[in-house]
Amino acid sequence: MRHFTNVHDLGNLKETLQEAFEIKADRFKYDQLGRNKTLMMIFFNSSLRTRLSTQKAAMNLGMNVMVLDINQGAWKLETERGVVMDGDKPEHLLEAIPVMGCYCDIIGVRSFAQFESKEDDYQEKILNQFIRYSGRPVFSMEAATRHPLQSFADLITIEEYKTKERPKVVLTWAPHPRALPQAVPNSFAEWMNAAGYEFVITHPEGYELAPEFVGNARVEYDQKKAFEGADFIYAKNWSAYADPNYGKVISTDRSWTVDAEKMALTNNARFMHCLPVRRNMIVSDDVIESERSIVIPEAANREISAQVVLKRILESL
Ligand code: CP
Repeated sequence: MRHFTNVHDLGNLKETLQEAFEIKADRFKYDQLGRNKTLMMIFFNSSLRTRLSTQKAAMNLGMNVMVLDINQGAWKLETERGVVMDGDKPEHLLEAIPVMGCYCDIIGVRSFAQFESKEDDYQEKILNQFIRYSGRPVFSMEAATRHPLQSFADLITIEEYKTKERPKVVLTWAPHPRALPQAVPNSFAEWMNAAGYEFVITHPEGYELAPEFVGNARVEYDQKKAFEGADFIYAKNWSAYADPNYGKVISTDRSWTVDAEKMALTNNARFMHCLPVRRNMIVSDDVIESERSIVIPEAANREISAQVVLKRILESL
């Protein structure tokens, strides 16, 4: 595998999960694979989990790691061609990318949707420029439309905690004060469809995700009905995808917050969220602190998903 941007890059999911569990059982088994190889992690946006888990995964494989926060200490980057660069951005991405590629063997990129142009966001303009111009294998650490390392960790976690072959998994929208990208719900939907679980998406009208990500999911506008019999509740906020509201907050309806009363409708479901989470907006304190909450093991599996991806890329060098 040279690049990793979505679920399809990993091939057979069953084999991929077996590899993940093998690595989890002995995470230093391949500690020579990355010897004298350098990972460069480039962040256009903030991170806690992705930064730490990916660095740890690289270290488990014996790699050297460099981290660049574009907004803290690097030159401000122009991303558009044809711009007269007489403003506050002294460097163009089209020089910066190949230069960064000179100093490393693999590049991880975090670049969120900018909500200026739906077309640019959904064409993954920044991530694809890294793939095209860096000369290096590139993997997504959350791009405009997907967060595949998170979804892979989510899948590992569901496989660990499920008590039936084909659990009912519910992705629920929940309120948030700011406009968030669709990357996590898009990606989660893509992976749940690929896994073949019973999959339901619930959200207020107007928050429909792009059809290519919804796939075979059942969309249910009644959150309580969606929760009935669920084995896993995956909460997340996202902004509107549909025009003319792309990237906008069109509801902060607190009746969509996940609380104990709603969790009581489920099949004693596990609660999941990718974190960071705004308590008592997305989920009540008692639900996230309950013994059914698996947000910490879910975050811990980020190390495993990153390690599988880095291992596969190292094997292709
Ligand atoms: N879930 C996740 O990607 O967390 P960070 O934004 O902290 O990396």
